[in-house]
Amino acid sequence: MDRKILFVCLGNICRSPAAEGIMQKLVQKWGIESLEIDSAGVLGYHAGELPDSRMRTHALKRGYVLSHRSRQVTMNDFYNFDMIIGMDDRNIDDLRDLAPSPEEWKKIHRMTDYCRKTTADHVPDPYYGGSQGFDHVLDLLEDACEGLLTFLTQDS
Ligand code: 4NP
Repeated sequence: MDRKILFVCLGNICRSPAAEGIMQKLVQKWGIESLEIDSAGVLGYHAGELPDSRMRTHALKRGYVLSHRSRQVTMNDFYNFDMIIGMDDRNIDDLRDLAPSPEEWKKIHRMTDYCRKTTADHVPDPYYGGSQGFDHVLDLLEDACEGLLTFLTQDS
């Protein structure tokens, strides 16, 4: 299934690196090769940083070690990746603005469209909230990653 997938959120320190870590673990568990996974942020403000320590702690409790270093999404990512998956309306709007041409818009997808257990239209930004927000984000991301991987394995 040679595919390259990029998860995108605002800061690339909470939602998208968690999505990357969850997907990496799932790919290992399902024994899937040739799926490349990365994450990036619309903002470059946190570039070089590890994920937010609250997200790392919550993720670790579920067995995910998040070691991604934040980076800003670039126009070139549209050439390098097959799917670019945003977490909320703002990410999707920003990705559309960044795309080299409207032709590339079809690479942009919404993470919650792959949820199968939960009905949600976005993965909420947990940055300014409490600890419950991080668990809610992880629940949504686990659901969506499983749905996405199921879609990809059926599609190939
Ligand atoms: P994320 O959360 O988009 O899930 O990584 C955020 C992290 C940092 C900021 C915003 C959202 N920030 O404004 O610094």
